[in-house]
Amino acid sequence: MSVLILGWLLCSVAAFPLDGPSAAQSVLTNDVTRVEAATNAALLGWHDPRLNGGRFLDFVGKKYGEPLNIVISGLSDPYVLTDDGFHNYAKSLGYSEECLGLHYGNLHDADLGDGDGRKTELFLARQYYFPVWGTCWESLAGGHHFRAWKQNGTLANSGAWFIGASKEENSSRRHKIVPNGYNLGRDWLVDRAIEGGRWKGMWWKADVEWRDDLLEKGKRGVNHGIEQDGRVAILTVHRL
Ligand SMILES: *[C@@H]1O[C@H](CO)[C@@H](O)[C@H](O)[C@H]1NC(C)=O
Ligand SMILES: *[C@@H]1O[C@H](CO)[C@@H](O)[C@H](O)[C@H]1NC(C)=O
Repeated sequence: MSVLILGWLLCSVAAFPLDGPSAAQSVLTNDVTRVEAATNAALLGWHDPRLNGGRFLDFVGKKYGEPLNIVISGLSDPYVLTDDGFHNYAKSLGYSEECLGLHYGNLHDADLGDGDGRKTELFLARQYYFPVWGTCWESLAGGHHFRAWKQNGTLANSGAWFIGASKEENSSRRHKIVPNGYNLGRDWLVDRAIEGGRWKGMWWKADVEWRDDLLEKGKRGVNHGIEQDGRVAILTVHRL
């Protein structure tokens, strides 16, 4: 179906004079973008936000952002792509939901290039230390956490989760990210995902594909000026 549409678009592009004014062509370009987005979303399970005005940094203020350094592709276990399933999956990795009333810091936005523009994080998870204190303890002690957004706008409805993972200092440092905290936070999650885990009798294990062409390496535009290596992990989570 997509192939047919693409073929039709290519023929239509060829029918326009090459030097002609390009209002018609830019309409076509938009259509090609839409078709590509839909095709990528279906085949890869995620769509590169940059192709439609998004980016792999979230938005903290006007200028800075934190890296979206993990994608859970839409080809993953369909349950993990639901809100409930994702919460349970996060618990299997060693996170818990944020301790109520102890939310430090602001909500972040992200633009996933799915036609929704900038949207607010849906989910913040923090490392779970031990049963009594749970995430409240982590809020005081610092540790691993992540924010997540869902790529489900009409332009690229892949269902993928886009995640910004990092490691924070404890609350005496007002939850600043530790040195190298973006890479550390990402690797902590990815190591656990590929090792596999379970929650409430459900078992999961992920495959990873590393990409270094999505996010610029370094600290330009990065919140707190902390260097990161520019690698993004694309996870496909399988239910065992
Ligand atoms: C996108 O996903 C979120 C989280 O599951 C949901 O709250 C929202 O309604 C979805 N948007 C659409 C357009 O389906
Ligand atoms: C918080 O971190 C600072 C510096 O890293 C350390 O001196 C302090 O003891 C820590 N506090 C707690 C409660 O862990």
